[in-house]
Amino acid sequence: MYGFGELIDILKKSPKKIVLTEGTDPRILEASSRLLASNFLSPILIGNPKEVHKAAEESGFNIRGSEIIDPNNFPEMDRMIELFCEIRKNKGMTPEEAKKYVYQANYFGTMLVKMGYADALLGGATYSTADTVRPALQLIKTKPQNKIVSSCFILVRPSATGENEVLAMGDCSINIKPNVDELAEIAEETIHCARRFGIDPKVAFLSYSTLGSGAGKDVDKMREAAQKTKERCPDVPIEGEIQFDAAVSPRVAKKKCPESEVGGHANTFIFPDINAGNIGYKIAQRMGNFEAYGPILLGLNSPINDLSRGCTAAEVYSMAIITAALA
Ligand SMILES: CC(C)(COP(=O)(O)OP(=O)(O)OC[C@H]1O[C@@H](n2cnc3c(N)ncnc32)[C@H](O)[C@@H]1OP(=O)(O)O)[C@@H](O)C(=O)NCCC(=O)NCCS
Repeated sequence: MYGFGELIDILKKSPKKIVLTEGTDPRILEASSRLLASNFLSPILIGNPKEVHKAAEESGFNIRGSEIIDPNNFPEMDRMIELFCEIRKNKGMTPEEAKKYVYQANYFGTMLVKMGYADALLGGATYSTADTVRPALQLIKTKPQNKIVSSCFILVRPSATGENEVLAMGDCSINIKPNVDELAEIAEETIHCARRFGIDPKVAFLSYSTLGSGAGKDVDKMREAAQKTKERCPDVPIEGEIQFDAAVSPRVAKKKCPESEVGGHANTFIFPDINAGNIGYKIAQRMGNFEAYGPILLGLNSPINDLSRGCTAAEVYSMAIITAALA
């Protein structure tokens, strides 16, 4: 996987600016103070400067030199409202209605990325996933070649041999019940993301059935999605439908799918829906000692990422670097 050193090297060659929407949150302030001490990624904090500085002082973090932008005192607000209406014109957006959105930090921060003030955005320390992601879906939008925005997690576990075990899992956070085509798109995007983290993807479309051992609509869905992804990515080993044990255990794979190139060696997992995905990555994180990086949003025109509300300052710092480096 890219070590943080490598991601930082990418940023050192091309320093970036990242919007952090929750400017008074102590975890955001701690991560910002670390970023400010670096020369590769500048945070832009959203909030009232007095309140942000007061919060920094109270929590003991030095954010001297940080850029703080206050929606209530933003010189380009008229231009922002005009652009907001232009982007949302098919919804009949009026300037009056736009004002209800652009003063909210999540929408305001997203518009700063849209207007080129920043390269990326990280939010969600206090906002829910939906409230962080929705402005991105509405304003930054899906890349022209994509139909949906999705997400993946990169999971990292240091091994006894010193070599990290690195896995990719998608989509654990955005699409609630993806259909066959959406699953194929999620898989293709997750494969690209996995490669950027040094994974040589072996892809398992997870199910309660292995190659026809069980039956049902959800089994068919994963089998068809695996087939579609094979057509889209003919150079990648892909198996599906396959149970998790057959995907990761060579002993079980020998019994359940002996011909499979992926069976027993999968490192990139595609889940049938958000229930399975969200529960699955958290089991790996909380009981399997994997560090979880993400959700990394896939398929957006600019990099915007969501934090878990339970995140630590260290996670904010890591996610800020991942978000900006993948820009
Ligand atoms: C992503 C999510 C927030 C969108 O929900 P929403 O805002 O209620 O969805 P809506 O259907 O109202 O869509 C809002 C806009 O986003 C777009 N959109 C929704 N899902 C999208 C997707 N997966 N990809 C691209 N665009 C999408 C819609 O087209 C719509 O655009 P428009 O306003 O320009 O017409 C929703 O799918 C969700 O809540 N997912 C689960 C999030 C979660 O709780 N995760 C678990 C914790 S990590």
